[in-house]
Amino acid sequence: MSRIVHIADLHFGDEDSRLVDDFLNRLPGLSADVVVVAGDLTQTGSRAEFAQAAAFFGEIDAPIVLTPGNHDTPLLNVATRLTRPWRRLQKAMGEVADDRFLNDRVHIESFNSARGVQFRLDWSLGVVSRKKLANPLAALGSSAVPTKILTAHHPILSPLDNRGRARTKRAPKFAREIAAIADLTLTGHLHQSFACPVTAENRTAWFVGASTAFSSRTREEPAGFNVIDVADGYFSLTPYRAENGAFKETDVSRLDRLD
Ligand SMILES: [Fe+2]
Repeated sequence: MSRIVHIADLHFGDEDSRLVDDFLNRLPGLSADVVVVAGDLTQTGSRAEFAQAAAFFGEIDAPIVLTPGNHDTPLLNVATRLTRPWRRLQKAMGEVADDRFLNDRVHIESFNSARGVQFRLDWSLGVVSRKKLANPLAALGSSAVPTKILTAHHPILSPLDNRGRARTKRAPKFAREIAAIADLTLTGHLHQSFACPVTAENRTAWFVGASTAFSSRTREEPAGFNVIDVADGYFSLTPYRAENGAFKETDVSRLDRLD
């Protein structure tokens, strides 16, 4: 079995520090093989917030796979957003995190679904492009490892069904192609914990979202994160939810991979 801790939307700069401390205290006991961070490390993409995020990741004694979110590019600096949107992130996180992970049971690849600027009004929304997706999907497709996992910040499939904040451009077009290769796709952005299946040819791929890990401005559901165990033939998903400044384990769901 392999264990993945899936966090997203950390939003340093707007974090509840009680939750950050509780997570760091709890993490060694969870014995994670890898921590997947599905974007939005910071609130405004400032250097100070990236320094906070880097200090946090420095406390984690496990491999970290990281993908950027729409909050991880300087909020008000349009010139930087146009020319070098991810430079601060790369500078701050290059030493402590990677964009992929591989052991003998799981292979994780990431792709960037966020953009510094876009030809549409809401720049916070995600985009799936062939260019960004091609290498990660090819790497997973040719991998001999039994469980293939993809991560990005924005939802590919979610209970919102490509509406509202889940309007990830071209996600409906690419969802089946992703599901044909990746057994599990881990995302953030919605601040919502969910698991959506896609079944084809007796095999089920899962699209799993995490709540915001530490943001003090929560939406409908409290802050939280996911613990995912990769077992033979299924994933077990345990969402943790914040209550009075501390995380609590909630009900485990079994996500079957085979009919
Ligand atoms: Fe986001």
